[in-house]
Amino acid sequence: MTQRSGKDGMSPKTTRREPAGFSTRAIHHGYDPQDAKGALNPPIYMTSTYAFEDARAGGELFAGEREGYIYGRLGNPTQALLETRLAELEGGEAALATASGMGAISASMWTLLRPGDELIIDKTLYGCTFSFFTHGLREFGITVTPVDMTRPENLEPCITDKTRVVYFETPANPNMRLVDIAAIREVIDASPHVDNISLVVDNTYCTPYLQTPLKLGANLVVHSATKYLGGHGDVIAGAVVGEKETIDRIRMYGLKDMTGAVIAPMDAFLVLRGLKTLRLRMDAHVKNAQALAALLEAHPLVARVFYPGLESFAWAETAKKQMRAPGGMMAFELHGGAMGDLEAGIHLMDQLRLIICAVSLGDAETLIQHPASMTHSTYTPEERHVHGISDGLIRLSAGLEDIADLEEDLTCALDATWARVKKAKAGESNRLEPTSQGY
Ligand SMILES: Cc1ncc(COP(=O)(O)O)c(C=O)c1O
Repeated sequence: MTQRSGKDGMSPKTTRREPAGFSTRAIHHGYDPQDAKGALNPPIYMTSTYAFEDARAGGELFAGEREGYIYGRLGNPTQALLETRLAELEGGEAALATASGMGAISASMWTLLRPGDELIIDKTLYGCTFSFFTHGLREFGITVTPVDMTRPENLEPCITDKTRVVYFETPANPNMRLVDIAAIREVIDASPHVDNISLVVDNTYCTPYLQTPLKLGANLVVHSATKYLGGHGDVIAGAVVGEKETIDRIRMYGLKDMTGAVIAPMDAFLVLRGLKTLRLRMDAHVKNAQALAALLEAHPLVARVFYPGLESFAWAETAKKQMRAPGGMMAFELHGGAMGDLEAGIHLMDQLRLIICAVSLGDAETLIQHPASMTHSTYTPEERHVHGISDGLIRLSAGLEDIADLEEDLTCALDATWARVKKAKAGESNRLEPTSQGY
């Protein structure tokens, strides 16, 4: 597949005078059906290796003296199209698609860090990212310093001549803390060590439709493409986007030599397919999330809702500054009373009939889960306490179902659990039946 010759990477037919809109680029960028026998959808190149024109050409490819494909761990045309499209949407020079989000994160870190270097991370990260950094990289001589980056001024005293990477998620999984990307960039720029430091932002919760960290000063953006980018819960994939020189190094070292976390051609195709409807889906996720967050906030059982679209949200101003819309994710805590916050949450999740208890996010189905015992059980209880993940916190990923059905399901479950909490409070019963998940 070739890069289109027209403006914005579009074929001459779809080239417009103005820069194309988000969906147009997500659907067309980098692919001309005429390059693939007119196939509307790009071919899936199911091949692990590539025939060289002749032996000399093979040597030249390995020496970097000739462009082309060598072996599937280094690249594949379906993967290349996905990379071109992701780079375009994030506003980066280049992208690398990987076998998972953790594949993208680990390939990037193995490339950017060496023993003795320092990595500064935000206080709250997705469980396996946190575990890779604090339980993994530390084993290899890297100093990992957690900092509350919701206050950018906290970062400055932690930067040293050994700092190589500053890393955060915004919104953070699972408690929705927001970090001001441009403000963190300013702190790094003001440091005498600015030239040594890469700012890496996990944009999984927002996708490039809602937020473009590279334009706000990040050097690299990482994604779990398993989530909104794929969008249908049928693929595990990841990506890293940024300057070509860095992406090339991650591909040729972090991916090729250190992790081997290469994306399969079929999976690259599935993410490309997901991208076509990303804007439509994100708009619908946001609409449903806004309604569910308001419903939760109004219920007496609910103590707190963390959703960037609520006026009560602590970082509402940051959200307005850097996000196009508040997203599809939220977290909340309950008034468990005598029943206990955690037990009340388990009861609530078990009462739901439509909303599914499962990890992952960004799927068509609305998903609910308990971070402390599931996605963030990689933290020790003490770490969860220090890093602001309460035992009673529940995470909800708003899906694409009809909102009336979601509202009915959630209201019934909230009412039933509230009745149990009140009963426990009245002393009639504070013992629960064992739940299906065996808590
Ligand atoms: C914010 C975030 N980053 C990274 C990952 C890791 O992605 P993957 O599961 O595709 O490896 C996840 C997974 O849930 C995530 O939520």
